Amino acid sequence: MTSQELRQKYLKFFEDKGHKIIPSASLVPKEDVELAGTQRVLFTTAGMHPLVPYLLGTSHPEGKRLVNVQKCLRTDDIDQVGDSVHNTFFEMLGNWSLGDYGKVEAISWSYDFLINHLKLDAKRLYISVFAGDDDAPFDQESFDIWRKLGMPEDHIFRYGKKDNWWGPVGPSGPCGPDTEMFYDIKPNDPGSLDPSSNSQRFVEIWNDVFMEYDKQKDGSFKPLAQRNVDTGMGLERMLAVLQNAPSSLGPQFCIAERGPHAMALVRGTVYETDVFLPLMKQIEELSANFQDKSARIVADHLRASVFLISDGVIPSNVERGYILRRLIRRLIRHASLLKIEQDFLEDLTKVVVKTYSDFYPKLEEFQESIITELKKEEAKFKKALAQGIHEFEKIGGDISGRDAFNLYQNYGFPIELTVEMALESNKGVDVPGFEKEFKAHQDLSRKAGEKTKGGMTTQSDRTAKLHTATHLLHQALRDVLGDHAHQTGSHITDVRLRFDFTHDAKMTEDQIKKVEDLVNQKIKDNLPVEKVTMPKAAADEIGAIGLFDDKYGDLVNIYFMGAGNPKDAYSKEFCGGPHADSTGSLGKFKIIKEESAGSGVRRIYATISNPN
Ligand code: ALA
Repeated sequence: MTSQELRQKYLKFFEDKGHKIIPSASLVPKEDVELAGTQRVLFTTAGMHPLVPYLLGTSHPEGKRLVNVQKCLRTDDIDQVGDSVHNTFFEMLGNWSLGDYGKVEAISWSYDFLINHLKLDAKRLYISVFAGDDDAPFDQESFDIWRKLGMPEDHIFRYGKKDNWWGPVGPSGPCGPDTEMFYDIKPNDPGSLDPSSNSQRFVEIWNDVFMEYDKQKDGSFKPLAQRNVDTGMGLERMLAVLQNAPSSLGPQFCIAERGPHAMALVRGTVYETDVFLPLMKQIEELSANFQDKSARIVADHLRASVFLISDGVIPSNVERGYILRRLIRRLIRHASLLKIEQDFLEDLTKVVVKTYSDFYPKLEEFQESIITELKKEEAKFKKALAQGIHEFEKIGGDISGRDAFNLYQNYGFPIELTVEMALESNKGVDVPGFEKEFKAHQDLSRKAGEKTKGGMTTQSDRTAKLHTATHLLHQALRDVLGDHAHQTGSHITDVRLRFDFTHDAKMTEDQIKKVEDLVNQKIKDNLPVEKVTMPKAAADEIGAIGLFDDKYGDLVNIYFMGAGNPKDAYSKEFCGGPHADSTGSLGKFKIIKEESAGSGVRRIYATISNPN
């Protein structure tokens, strides 16, 4: 069965059961999804990720039964791609019930699809269900359903949260117990029949999650009003089972998702399925010094880069762009280890586009710009690479955090490149030291950016209102937490505000609510906002707060929010503006997330709604 047949079969199966086919969302999560899910995740990591608001109860325009093939990217183990178990980009087949059907349908359909449509051998199917703990009970219902379907009792295992609970994406949000399906790929093996302890023998092929809980910021689990089903099947993994290609490229299996079961397939790797074979063949032809690991890195990273660029990511030094840059630079270096002498990015990109354009027609449309971006990045990197290698070789002994940072800063060496080169020459690298330098540098650039722009990236009416909300938040934090809470940073986009302040501990739910309520009260009070220019000493005298800076000289602008004597105003803060004329126009204020932003510094993301 080809990849295209598998996708179509899956979609059709669930369409026949009343599901609407929805398109794959972008690899770049939407801001509103990010906000609704109170999460900050750079890429779409699972099919449920773009559906978080609907799992939490918002009604989906296509109804309560959905199915799709979702592009996903997981970068946690980016350094390990190239071994036999890790991929970055992969496709996930998923079906959802948004408060509609429950376990009986979900499990019976999974079973039917695997056995009657994909023709897997029922005798080789093994199951796990949630064993139960203090947060949620043993999943008796799933156990009984599997038994009714004919699953022998000794094929059903009970595992705890570590293995049989999925989500949330990020620190809080929808999650729940799951039931996982494993396939025995070595039925004649004399070893253990417990999937969790015999990862050579069993491969996890599908996961049905019963998303019935909402994990709170404090770590507790609240039952969701809406009981959902979220399932996920790794396309590459299932293809490797179905295509079961004899391994010409190495004995081990490489799969889309992580975990011990990744090692399980010994007869075919994902690199030998139809989504990778053409690319692997081309890489092999171009290589004067072919070896598995580098070829896999080139194949995996190139495929991921092509999809990322088609979703609008371009290489840069921050966030998503930086991940992309690392993928491209690492693949270029491995192409050189393979001794690919000629230009290869264009040819290989065309192979990826051709492999996927049936299902992702956008790739063809973007082919030229993808190639251009890749080549631009290659040119940048190549220029620095030779010099960087020279510099690297000059370092005697182990590589300090500072050395690694200099290689990054001056020659664009991603940290994993430095680590790989160090390994090859038997040197150590102080990776935590590098990370410290890297973070300190990013903080500095952020602060510089904030000073020049007053913390705002766009100057619209809405950002002015968010800016006004920031002042109210600052004062409310001081009222609730104490006067030690003061601003260390601020950043405002059209969508949300971000505010960093000094405070030693994670804020409790109660404190967050108090702060929100206080800000909302001040909005309701519709306080006038007034700017007064005054000597700095006078501003100090009346207790104005904010980031004073010597370069502003003797006279400073203070924004007062509150009626009557400015001295008694609710908020008195040094600032360049602009601001709303009065607080009543801000709408409803909501804290989206509270997290650490370094030692003794907390960060709040918040937004306002109905800002008319
Ligand atoms: N969201 C579930 C997973 O990624 C289905 O395994």
